This record gives sequence, C-alpha cells and structure tokens, in this order.
Amino acid sequence: SAQADFSAALLAWYRRHARDLPWRRDPDPYRTWVSEIMLQQTRVSAVLEHFRAFTERFPTLVALALAPEEDVLSRWSGLGYYRRARMLHRAAKFLLQEHEGTLPRTAAELRKLPGIGSYTAAAIASIAFGERTAVVDGNVERVLLRVAGRPEQADRATIDFVQRFAQALIDAPGQEAEATGVPAPAPGDHNQAMMELGATVCLPRGPRCLECPVYDWCRTRGEHPTPARAAMKSE
Ligand code: ADE
Repeated sequence: SAQADFSAALLAWYRRHARDLPWRRDPDPYRTWVSEIMLQQTRVSAVLEHFRAFTERFPTLVALALAPEEDVLSRWSGLGYYRRARMLHRAAKFLLQEHEGTLPRTAAELRKLPGIGSYTAAAIASIAFGERTAVVDGNVERVLLRVAGRPEQADRATIDFVQRFAQALIDAPGQEAEATGVPAPAPGDHNQAMMELGATVCLPRGPRCLECPVYDWCRTRGEHPTPARAAMKSE
C-alpha cells in the first residue's frame, strides 16, 4: 500500500540519518522514560549532557525512587521546568511501591502516571515496548498536514485527522507484514523517524524538500519557500 511504502522510505532514511543519541544506543524502558520527559520542552542538544549526568547518578528506576527529592532537583538543574522532575520522581516512587519498580508496558497504563501525557505515553510504549501506537507531537503534526495538503491549523477536525493519519501510517507496515510475511519495522523506529523528519528536514520555515525521503507522497512538496527564496521573491 502507499502507506506501507511511505513508512518503508521513511525508515530507510532514518537508518542512514538518525542522530546517535545516548538513549537510542542502549534502550531500556527507564532511560526511554527519562529521555522523553526531558525532551518534552527542551531541545535535543540541551538534553544530551543532562541526560548523561542524570542517568549516571540515577541509573535505574529504583535508584531514582530511593533518592531524596533535593538530589533529583539538583541533578535536573539547567533543564528548567522543575515540575517535570518532581512528577518523574513521584511516579518512580509510586512504581516502586505499587508496580515492583517497573514501568507499565502500554500507552493506556503509562498515561495514568504523573507527568506522562498521551504523546509521551505513546513514545515510551512504542520505543521501549514495541506498541504500535502513533506519536503525534508538533513536528509530526506539521509533517502530516503538509503531506496531506491540509492547512496547518489546530482545530478539532484537524487534530482528529492527524491522529488517524499518523495511526494509519504506523499500522500499515504491520498489516503488510501479516499479508506478506516480511517483518514490520519496529514502531519505535517509525515514530522516532517521523519526529526526526520534522526536526531536521520538514522544518517550520524553509523545509528541505529536496532531501525529504517522503517527497513522492507529499501534496505540498517544494511549496514552502525557504526564507532566502521568499526574500528574493519580495524584492
Ligand atoms: N523528541 C521527543 N522524543 C524524541 C525522540 N525519541 N527522538 C527525537 N526527538 C524526540
């Protein structure tokens, strides 16, 4: 199907271009969780050094749960939005007491924890546990609206459309795998590839359409002038 072809092209690109990030190197549900909380309002470049220091001091969920709050907050310093650190710590303590120190494996269960909304729940469930659930953040939304040729706006109908489209794209290779026996790519890779595409190619202004792996499927390819070209036009 066109959707499975889209996903395959995206994945092939991601395998060549994915940034080498520490939480991707040896994924583990706890590390995936910490990285996704840190990435909520913070750029990858700023998260990098803090992630290393934080996971060195608190290498496991149990270590985090047992630490005093002031240690957790002081290791968070520089990242800002301390509420995230407090909720991460509170969730770790809850999971140690009530869940044998492990993370729940589904997005639906993860969403019940402090600090985990539907976007972060989908990211953790897909990356750490292989759940076929689409991650929709601001980057993914922009990519899919451009692919579909719909206006980049945030009304209810648009949000619903994006959610359904994102889910159809991540479902497609799974359905194709059932039909053909060719193994489907990991859903976490698909989701991270979508986020990576929005962060590095399908930029808010000046997208690099000629580098885009899903150019062939895009209704608005080449239509978003780079700032340089826009400036030339208005001269
Ligand atoms: N932003 C949030 N989570 C991310 C991830 N896993 N990869 C790239 N960008 C992200």
